[in-house]
Amino acid sequence: MSERLLLSVRNLHVYYGAIHALKGINFDIKQGEIVSLIGSNGAGKTTTLRAISGLTEASGEILLAGESITKIATHRRVLHGIAQSPEGRGIFPNLTVLENMLMGAYSRHDKEITKDLDQCYQLFPRLKEREKQIAGTLSGGEQQMLAISRALMCRPKLLLLDEPSLGLAPKIVSQIFEIIKQLNQNGMTILLVEQNANQALKISDRAYVLETGKISLEGRGSELLSNDDVRRCYLGV
Ligand SMILES: Nc1ncnc2c1ncn2[C@@H]1O[C@H](COP(=O)(O)OP(=O)(O)O)[C@@H](O)[C@H]1O
Ligand SMILES: [Mg+2]
Repeated sequence: MSERLLLSVRNLHVYYGAIHALKGINFDIKQGEIVSLIGSNGAGKTTTLRAISGLTEASGEILLAGESITKIATHRRVLHGIAQSPEGRGIFPNLTVLENMLMGAYSRHDKEITKDLDQCYQLFPRLKEREKQIAGTLSGGEQQMLAISRALMCRPKLLLLDEPSLGLAPKIVSQIFEIIKQLNQNGMTILLVEQNANQALKISDRAYVLETGKISLEGRGSELLSNDDVRRCYLGV
């Protein structure tokens, strides 16, 4: 793995009125890594992703490949290579599968959109079969696949995934994690937010534990899987 840093987050603070949701967090993601952010409900995981995408106002510094993006608007961060599959999937329920996918490529003007569409369909053949179906009628698992595909259609350098396994049946959860692993093996750098710590740590190079707005622990995925505190608090064992 190359040691080149893709993302650096420095002293990130977020306030929602009087709520201090992120209390100066620091972390890095190297090119080609899959890094998880785990933590309980309300720990600040979604806030962290939204701050990286620019959807939530934050102070501190966010560097993408060494370049500060802290002051750049959300739509321009997409052009810099950050794409997010949001918590709750955020698909457009009244548009077709294909129309949802193309929304991901909205700001692109290159000639490779069809090629990327084909690649997504290779990864998710079910979406190809349902290309003309209204997205709101898809199953939860299919909607998650669509949310990931739409993000991939931005051709990101960094893919942010917020709770991709939430609310899905165990068999579908395994499929989604398998696909995330495959995407990473194909070279995509991924920041994965999950309450399903067990599965997330299994596929991650490294992980950070977020506790009420602070990073309390970090390490290799395998290390955290066997860490007593992590096992007690997040793995239920
Ligand atoms: N839009 C908001 N307005 C006010 N408080 C918020 C908002 N979004 C999140 N919070 C609060 O910020 C904290 C972190 O939330 P969040 O980032 O959603 O956590 P997680 O994704 O880890 O469950 C929580 O205390 C939550 O209640
Ligand atoms: Mg969340």
